[in-house]
Amino acid sequence: MPTYSFKVNGKAVNVDAPAGMALLWVLRDKLGITGPKYGCGMNVCKACTCLVNGSAVTACSTTVSSVQGAEVTTIEGLANGDTLHPVQQAWLDHDVAQCGFCQPGQIMAAVALLDRTPHPTDADIDKVENVCRCGTYHRIRKAIKQASSRG
Ligand code: FES
Ligand code: FES
Repeated sequence: MPTYSFKVNGKAVNVDAPAGMALLWVLRDKLGITGPKYGCGMNVCKACTCLVNGSAVTACSTTVSSVQGAEVTTIEGLANGDTLHPVQQAWLDHDVAQCGFCQPGQIMAAVALLDRTPHPTDADIDKVENVCRCGTYHRIRKAIKQASSRG
């Protein structure tokens, strides 16, 4: 089985895995990083969103071979010690989560959005396609706006 080397949340990792194994299962089952969630497994719900070299990807539809040498960031890597990332803080301030299942992916999608568009419009936010079955979209929008005003 081939070995793939990349970084996860700033730490170098080497994993033995079939080339086509989804990054989601490498993170969750081989590395014990369970922030990215399994929802649909087919690039629709975005519960598994994490960052690869700063861009949002769905880990269920990203192969481990494609992240060779890359920097992967999951929600576990956002905070700086005890200091939350501004997006995480905004999520807490607006009490965004309901059941919470989609929220790691929502936060990672928001981080990627604010990275490329520091002051997003409503239309920009509408392009985030992460599904929330609890319907927390209005609070997500407020939290993204708060985080953007701090940027
Ligand atoms: S689990 Fe990855 S998009 Fe739904
Ligand atoms: S908070 Fe429950 S699915 Fe989004």
